[in-house]
Amino acid sequence: MAGMTVLVVGGGGREHALGIGLAESESVAAVHTCPGNAGTAAIGTNHPISASDVEAVLDLAIELRADLVVVGPEGPLVAGIAERLRAVDIPCFGPHSEGAALEGSKLHAKQIMELLDIPTGGIQILRSGADIEAALDRYSEPWVVKRDVLAGGKGVVVTSDRAEAAEFIAQSIEGDGFVLLEEFLAGEEASMLVLMDESGYVCLPASQDHKRVGDGDQGPNTGGMGAYAPAPVVTAAVRRRAIEEIVEPMHHHLRNQPIPYRGCLYVGLMIDAEGAPSVVEYNVRFGDPETQVTIPLVDSDLGELLLAVAIGSVASLNPRFSDKSAVTVVLASEGYPAASATGRVISGADTRIEEGDIVGFIHHAGTRIDDDGKLVSSGGRVLAATAIAADLRSAVETAYAVLDEVQLEGSHHRSDIAYRAL
Ligand code: AMP
Ligand code: GLY
Repeated sequence: MAGMTVLVVGGGGREHALGIGLAESESVAAVHTCPGNAGTAAIGTNHPISASDVEAVLDLAIELRADLVVVGPEGPLVAGIAERLRAVDIPCFGPHSEGAALEGSKLHAKQIMELLDIPTGGIQILRSGADIEAALDRYSEPWVVKRDVLAGGKGVVVTSDRAEAAEFIAQSIEGDGFVLLEEFLAGEEASMLVLMDESGYVCLPASQDHKRVGDGDQGPNTGGMGAYAPAPVVTAAVRRRAIEEIVEPMHHHLRNQPIPYRGCLYVGLMIDAEGAPSVVEYNVRFGDPETQVTIPLVDSDLGELLLAVAIGSVASLNPRFSDKSAVTVVLASEGYPAASATGRVISGADTRIEEGDIVGFIHHAGTRIDDDGKLVSSGGRVLAATAIAADLRSAVETAYAVLDEVQLEGSHHRSDIAYRAL
């Protein structure tokens, strides 16, 4: 289809990256975003509608006569936005609520993995304070405790401090009725984004996120402080195994459900010292910030690709990928992740570096234009400096050179993104 009107739902760096890819697609005439950020406003039209307001998003899609809706965050998918859109014949990139339960409920995801014999850590379900000590005895440290709720990455505690683990278990049982204690998986993490529908699937270049707030993977977990792709830890052999042992069985399962899964399946991998992959988590959407380093490596028309998934015909395409490297470094607000100072003026966000085939620029996330026309911060992760180059080292240098030009009082970022690979 040519001349498409596309609505992107969400307002983070992920949605800016998707918006740029769509705006550059020949198949796309107009990109709308709700609610968007200052970056998406520059490449299309923002609408002041919350991504979680399913009714309002549906009305907007109808009003725009959208040819395709691309849903960024998991919340509206779990709430059933995809089936609502499909009921009015608007193709939606993103699974229906039942498919989204793979992210919405960790217990559900574990049960499916068990059924399909997909490699993942074992779990114990704890429902009573009386079970805690015996359960902790059954696994060795560090302990992995997961609440079975959508908590934006904050429902998981990984700790070698037995008292802390016991405390988090007790609190979670009190709040949620039960909690999962999961076997610790050692190794290196990577993210595989798989575009999937009933006709087939396409694995995008693997990436690696940096979840801890501080250099050297220190400090609390965040939504992600930076990423790079392709991740060398996913060698050709690891990739083959991940596809064979994890992606294939899951695709087979999902394609045979009454309503097929149409969207991105995010496979969070742990790769052990022998190169054996297992699943840390599934998400039912693109990763953030993984998208910022993955979408720029898609050489084919992104609009066409996402539409194909949304209508169940991805097998008819053979998308091309760049062999370059991409890096993104997140700039976070003062206090993030515990809290976020917002409303502060940002300068230098229009920095762009182009040298030969190297390009560096800013992906906006928590940014907006205030009443005086100034660019200000509006969230925890404010923006990210992204660069694409023939080699990873040049991409890293360029991303940091772009970030050097950005000023935001009290902000912080990691200075070691991608160093594990260099
Ligand atoms: P999740 O929300 O399930 O992705 O967990 C957040 C983070 O906790 C993951 O990205 C991992 O770094 C860590 N984590 C979760 N589960 C495990 C596990 N079973 N073994 C080791 N680390 C884990
Ligand atoms: N960067 C991790 C996520 O999107 O879940």
